[in-house]
Amino acid sequence: MELTSAPLHKGQVPWRGLLLAALLLTYCNSSATAQARLAAVPPNVVVGASVILEIHDLETKIMAYYWYRGPHLHDDKEIVRFIPSRLVNMRGPAHTGREKVYQDGFMLLENVNKNDAGTYTARLLTMNYDTLVLSLQFQVYAPLPKPNITSNNSNPMEGEDSVALMCEPETQNTVYLWRINGQSLSEGDRLKLSIDNRTLTLLTVVRTDTGPYECETRNLVSTSRSEPFTLNITYGPDVPIISPSDTHFQSRTNLSLSCHAASNPPAQYSWSVNGELQASSQELFIPNITTNNSRSSTCLVHNSATGLNRTTVKNIIVLEPVNVPSIEASKTVVKELESVSLTCSSNDPGISFRWLFKGEHLVLTDRMKLSDNNRILTIDPVKLEDSGEYKCEVSNPANFKDSDAIVLDIIPIYGKRNFWHSWGPIIGIVAQCLLGLAALIILVVFLLKTIRGRNLGKKENINQMKDGRKPAGK
Ligand SMILES: *[C@@H]1O[C@H](CO)[C@@H](O)[C@H](O)[C@H]1NC(C)=O
Ligand SMILES: *[C@@H]1O[C@H](CO)[C@@H](O)[C@H](O)[C@H]1NC(C)=O
Ligand SMILES: *[C@@H]1O[C@H](CO)[C@@H](O)[C@H](O)[C@H]1NC(C)=O
Ligand SMILES: *[C@@H]1O[C@H](CO)[C@@H](O)[C@H](O)[C@H]1NC(C)=O
Ligand SMILES: *[C@@H]1O[C@H](CO)[C@@H](O)[C@H](O)[C@H]1NC(C)=O
Ligand SMILES: *[C@@H]1O[C@H](CO)[C@@H](O)[C@H](O)[C@H]1NC(C)=O
Ligand SMILES: *[C@@H]1O[C@H](CO)[C@@H](O)[C@H](O)[C@H]1NC(C)=O
Ligand SMILES: *[C@@H]1O[C@H](CO)[C@@H](O)[C@H](O)[C@H]1NC(C)=O
Repeated sequence: MELTSAPLHKGQVPWRGLLLAALLLTYCNSSATAQARLAAVPPNVVVGASVILEIHDLETKIMAYYWYRGPHLHDDKEIVRFIPSRLVNMRGPAHTGREKVYQDGFMLLENVNKNDAGTYTARLLTMNYDTLVLSLQFQVYAPLPKPNITSNNSNPMEGEDSVALMCEPETQNTVYLWRINGQSLSEGDRLKLSIDNRTLTLLTVVRTDTGPYECETRNLVSTSRSEPFTLNITYGPDVPIISPSDTHFQSRTNLSLSCHAASNPPAQYSWSVNGELQASSQELFIPNITTNNSRSSTCLVHNSATGLNRTTVKNIIVLEPVNVPSIEASKTVVKELESVSLTCSSNDPGISFRWLFKGEHLVLTDRMKLSDNNRILTIDPVKLEDSGEYKCEVSNPANFKDSDAIVLDIIPIYGKRNFWHSWGPIIGIVAQCLLGLAALIILVVFLLKTIRGRNLGKKENINQMKDGRKPAGK
């Protein structure tokens, strides 16, 4: 018996690299009608799983089934033969103990290993003694190992180094996928993928390229993902920032300054005042400062990996606390429409003045005027609404103090405008009394008239009844 088709070797399959290569070979010895095909279920077999080699589209009855490993019908490659009529199931030399044949001639292969991949051939003997030879090939896939990411530079320098990240190991028939910060990656100016996507190149890294990076591998039977990988990008130090940002501080308080600079590895900090090292820490603490501490302090940051230093200088001005100012009024009881002036006094240098009315910042009206650097507040003319509590506040850039309160009492004057104000209510009451009296008189007159009218009406009714007429009402 001969096969018309060429033997199938792995290397000769034109679509090598395709994931499944199943091939149908139909060889008809004497009958052109007998045909069928083989199928592997599942088509992609995982190591350790089972596969069934099925015979499909078979139209004739079969007398005997023979299964072979490989493309040839060599006796020593026979796995098993099955004769349905006698239910005979005979193992051949190529049987491994993992194969079984079913009633319909299908062959089960259990606990598949990598060596099971390849071609299988079935020879079917029909009742007419025709021979049908069918072949198929299947691949066996191992589940992918957990990939890991390697980098060709463990400490790249910001703005200088390019880094190649590789997803290991390299396996056949594997698709590689990358994620940055959990997002699928999009190639850009600085981000390049190799043709197989296994290598990700970051051109001239910046600090935001830290990651984490993840690589995922996929084949037909499995998906596997690496642990997150983080790049340790060396950068900085940036120019340090000192907080708080104030320049003025009050004497006899504690001064605490903090310096911060972005840097990897973290920067080393030091503080100096007039070139003299004060502290080798991020914080500068000077308790109970005096005006003698009005100097400039320098924060120096140093990155041991880049070897770079950066500094920021802060000028500190220590001010004595201001004293409570005193407040005086030209008079505190003021007649309406007169004028009044309030004066704030303090001997402290470099202070500014502000006025408070009823606890709030005074809103100046066009009747108010500030003079002598806001020291004097003049109200001309005063109005009733100016009554209330006044304070002045002195401040320097470091602190402030309020004076005691002074209360302005504005007395209304009874001018033309005030006539109705004082007499109005009395006139009103008199007018109301007069109106009430008038109303009463009208009411009494009306009542008297009505009573008289009723009496007249009754008399009229009696007269009507006498006339034999019906009364108009009930
Ligand atoms: C990555 O995985 C390979 C095996 O797949 C192993 O040899 C290597 O040591 C791993 N590397 C790291 C950094 O885990
Ligand atoms: C790492 O790979 C990138 C890209 O291929 C290359 O530019 C860089 O020089 C490599 N770095 C090292 C340390 O090999
Ligand atoms: C590589 O990844 C891109 C998407 O990032 C995808 O479009 C492309 O098909 C992939 N190439 C290979 C060979 O897997
Ligand atoms: C990052 O790299 C620096 C050197 O540039 C090293 O001192 C530091 O320990 C590294 N950090 C980590 C988390 O590996
Ligand atoms: C100032 O610092 C001293 C320690 O030097 C501390 O005892 C004190 O409570 C601090 N005062 C304030 C207001 O923080
Ligand atoms: C702070 O210093 C002043 C002198 O400058 C001193 O009188 C005061 O007692 C000091 N206060 C504290 C809490 O040490
Ligand atoms: C400030 O310094 C001067 C000398 O520089 C010194 O005489 C004075 O006592 C100092 N004042 C305080 C409060 O330390
Ligand atoms: C940078 O600072 C470090 C430590 O603070 C010092 O040792 C080094 O001399 C400085 N380098 C330069 C160039 O100033």
